[in-house]
Amino acid sequence: MEFDVFNHEQMHEFGLKLANKLPNGTVVALLGDLGAGKTTLVRSVAKGLEIDEVVQSPTFNIMKLYLKGKRPLIHIDAYRLADLDTDIGLDEYIGYETGLTMIEWPQYIEKLLPKNTLFIEISITGETSRHLKVYSQDLKLLEVIK
Ligand SMILES: Nc1ncnc2c1ncn2[C@@H]1O[C@H](COP(=O)(O)OP(=O)(O)O)[C@@H](O)[C@H]1O
Ligand SMILES: [Mg+2]
Repeated sequence: MEFDVFNHEQMHEFGLKLANKLPNGTVVALLGDLGAGKTTLVRSVAKGLEIDEVVQSPTFNIMKLYLKGKRPLIHIDAYRLADLDTDIGLDEYIGYETGLTMIEWPQYIEKLLPKNTLFIEISITGETSRHLKVYSQDLKLLEVIK
């Protein structure tokens, strides 16, 4: 599935849809350059899950867990894991069964991604416009967010 959003509001709507429709245990892999809108989309999903905490880029922490919303949200930024061979036990959290996991820079932990990963590739097409490519091996994930 591919589509364009033209402003923040449309991106936000998409985030709310993900929050409302994706089944528990889904992993969302966010691809795109710096400034594409990956963290912004995680914020919208957090809003949809009624998480009041401020969602920041977890680059420094690698992972942040939000437990106070309708269901748990795990936000991972794998950027600093590039070329790291150490097993830090991240796989324990990925796909945490009662919530959603959203991962920025998933290409660095590709081997840990389960089959029910929804890939969202964001490309910058203008100041507030973005092109989105959404794909998964798990076709029912695409079905629920259609
Ligand atoms: N339609 C849009 N969707 C998401 N972000 C947008 C949009 N239009 C402009 N932006 C801006 O692009 C930037 C995206 O930053 P961020 O979400 O931190 O990106 P990333 O996490 O991919 O590096 C923000 O400054 C945001 O305000
Ligand atoms: Mg980010």
